[in-house]
Amino acid sequence: MKSQQIRQTFLEYFKKKQHEIVPSAPMVIKNDPTLMFTNAGMNQFKEYFLGNSTPKNSRIADSQKCLRVSGKHNDLEEVGVDTYHHTMFEMLGNWSFGDYFKKEAIQWAWELLTDVFEIDKNSLYVTIFEGDSSEDLERDQEAYDIWKELIAEERILNGNKKDNFWEMGAQGPCGPCSEIHVDIRSAEEKQKVDGASLVNADHPQVVEIWNLVFMQFNRMADGTLKNLPAQHVDTGMGFERLAMVLQGKQSNYDTDVFTPIIREIETITGHSYGNTKEEDIAIRVIADHVRAVSFSIADGQLPSNNGAGYVIRMILRRAIRYGFTYLNKKEPFIHQLVNTLAKQMGDAFPELKSQKNLIHNVIKEEEISFLRTLENGLALLDAMVESMKKENTKTLDGKKAFELNDTYGFPKELTRLILSEQGLGMDEEGFAAALKKQQEDSRKASATETSDWTVLNADDSQEFIGYDRLSADVRIAKYRKTSSKKEGELYQIVFNMTPFYGESGGQTGDKGYLESPSGDTVYIIDTKKENGQTVHLTKNLPKELGGTHRVSVDKSQRMRTAANHTATHLLHQALRKILGEHVEQKGSMVRSASLRFDFSHFSKVTPEELAEVENFVNARIREQLPLEENRSQTYEEAIQDGAIGLFGEKYGDVVRTIKFGESYELCGGTHVKNTAEVWHFKITHETSVASGIRRIEAITSDAVKDFFSEQSQHFEEIKAVLKNPAKNPAESIQHLLEENASLKKEIEELKREKASQLKNTLIDQAKNINGIHFIGTSTDLDAKSVKELAFQLEQELANLFLIIGAENDGKATLTVMISKNLVEEKGLNAGQLVRSLGKHIQGGGGGQAHFATAGGKNPAGIPAALKEAEDLIIQQA
Ligand code: ALA
Repeated sequence: MKSQQIRQTFLEYFKKKQHEIVPSAPMVIKNDPTLMFTNAGMNQFKEYFLGNSTPKNSRIADSQKCLRVSGKHNDLEEVGVDTYHHTMFEMLGNWSFGDYFKKEAIQWAWELLTDVFEIDKNSLYVTIFEGDSSEDLERDQEAYDIWKELIAEERILNGNKKDNFWEMGAQGPCGPCSEIHVDIRSAEEKQKVDGASLVNADHPQVVEIWNLVFMQFNRMADGTLKNLPAQHVDTGMGFERLAMVLQGKQSNYDTDVFTPIIREIETITGHSYGNTKEEDIAIRVIADHVRAVSFSIADGQLPSNNGAGYVIRMILRRAIRYGFTYLNKKEPFIHQLVNTLAKQMGDAFPELKSQKNLIHNVIKEEEISFLRTLENGLALLDAMVESMKKENTKTLDGKKAFELNDTYGFPKELTRLILSEQGLGMDEEGFAAALKKQQEDSRKASATETSDWTVLNADDSQEFIGYDRLSADVRIAKYRKTSSKKEGELYQIVFNMTPFYGESGGQTGDKGYLESPSGDTVYIIDTKKENGQTVHLTKNLPKELGGTHRVSVDKSQRMRTAANHTATHLLHQALRKILGEHVEQKGSMVRSASLRFDFSHFSKVTPEELAEVENFVNARIREQLPLEENRSQTYEEAIQDGAIGLFGEKYGDVVRTIKFGESYELCGGTHVKNTAEVWHFKITHETSVASGIRRIEAITSDAVKDFFSEQSQHFEEIKAVLKNPAKNPAESIQHLLEENASLKKEIEELKREKASQLKNTLIDQAKNINGIHFIGTSTDLDAKSVKELAFQLEQELANLFLIIGAENDGKATLTVMISKNLVEEKGLNAGQLVRSLGKHIQGGGGGQAHFATAGGKNPAGIPAALKEAEDLIIQQA
């Protein structure tokens, strides 16, 4: 069975069991501070488990792109080393939200695996939760009893809390789970060692393929467990592992999910898979990581220096360094795999096809820059090895190795390898200690402590009313306290409804204030969205928490933000019209002060194009286009109708569309009622963000007025400086520049003249010291003229020893020129000489044996330097 078909069979099975099949959510998570990447199929349904909202369908199934590289579920270090862990993988899952529970979940999983996929029952083991007294959790007898009807009892194994109690993260929904493991060893091996003893023992051929989680609890911030309002099922099956079993392979990497990429790596690098252990690990690492990085870029997450972007950069760098070290690839090559990946997975994930060029370019640029880092690191390490050899040390200081890694991005493994090739070692403990210290420092700096919610009114509807109103009378539904070094102590408040827009879709959150029934005012300093809730941030709580509070959004800030958001849509439209339909939004930041828009485009936007874009947007503003808003279309209806959606964004069943004339987008943000309110649009910057991605920054409304008044002030200042207000200042400046250039020319002429006079005088004055023409003089000529003079004198006087001390702008230079024959015959060396004469002028220098210069800060020392040089010649000659 081809992997495509395996995925399809899974989805169809659950469709028949009345499950709605939904698309994979984006892999990069945007609106959840507790999670950077989707690490399990259930993430996108978290709010259903917690009871914050209700799904349209209580049964759902999908194949979810997951990335386990940070936080609680992090497999990065295993990837490539073994044959069954991945950074990015597909999780096939089926869910029940308060619908069926353990019985159906277990029976269906069993039926699908053994009847539909026809996996031999005798190769399967299942585990159930054995209970945990420290948490007062009982053994899962119910699951045991259900399994007993399906599988021999000796194949049902007990599992501890680590393996059989599944939690998404430090907080959130969780529950006991029952795992299904498969033993794909040969009959002979099975005879020798009982499979049951290898379950959950990191054996590459006895692996977990499916986890059935029975969600019952919510893990609170204080570590306790609370019952969820209802019981749910959350399952996750490793698609690549299932493919391995069904295709009769011993490794995920031998399935058709990976073989095309591996073949391509072999072709490009000339190393074959199955050769040495090191090469195999490297090939697996690259095959795995190119998927993770490509899918992330397609989801809109570019490699960068912080947050999710940093994690992506580190994954890619891990692949590059494995290629560099074990496949001997010193040139970028990983980007060349994108084509094969897009071909192979592009049908199931069309984003890989549509964004192929972007992914290719971004990876290539990252490769080039990291390979340069590796080269620089190698040079630094070489220098360290040199000095170790001199000092006769055998172990590289751990702190130094860490610095190489931390400051220069040079990988530890490579340091270790290079050292060992020279018979040297690395102080591993010192490295670990330095790493630990740095991690602790950064954890302390960024750690946020969050208390559990204090619930005042459980019946909160969380309704957002801010499209229509800017103030409302509300109740506090719940609140909690957070504290971090960066932000200090803050309160997060959730109301039963709110006019405040929570930061999302690139638009910053509203600010405003709350008036409590007891008359005090509390400022709302920011608003965020978290798992479908709007969270208001304040520095303190109102004196009275109960009762009705009046909350009001800062109107002028909201108006400016709305103008910038509308202008962003018009800008998007303008770019697609003027630069072409290939332009896709890659990032957007809408604030009250300005807007920023990142988009795919292969070259710099020319000044003419920028002017055209500005004119286009301003023309739409002048047309006074009214806002046409629709809040009740389904996603499909809106897209069919021509609205533009963003890839990597998670849309609900019902979407909101925003239309101004022909600009038509899916959008949850706030907008002006008419484009006329934007007043004017002005681009302030155009730059590059990454290969193939440009950024435009712009301003609108009041900010444009401020911008122009500032410009006009500068203009007045220029006119005042020019003291010629009647004329066009540009002409005056042009005139000044021309005048300046001709004056410069004149000065050069004069200098040359002076130098030539000086030359003649110096020839006349040259002293003959036993056949050496000695010239020692001081001057105020600049460095370039002195050099010219020295070379001319060398042409005209044989056996020359020349030293010129020059003083310019309070600084001193010494120039020494020695005829080449004297260098050879008398062993004179200009380079050495200036170094020692440099002390007189409090400086230093160097150069060649026949010509060298030194610079210093003490012109008063020039005569002494000239004198010492002359004495030396008298002695030597
Ligand atoms: N959420 C469960 C897991 O990720 C199914 O393993």
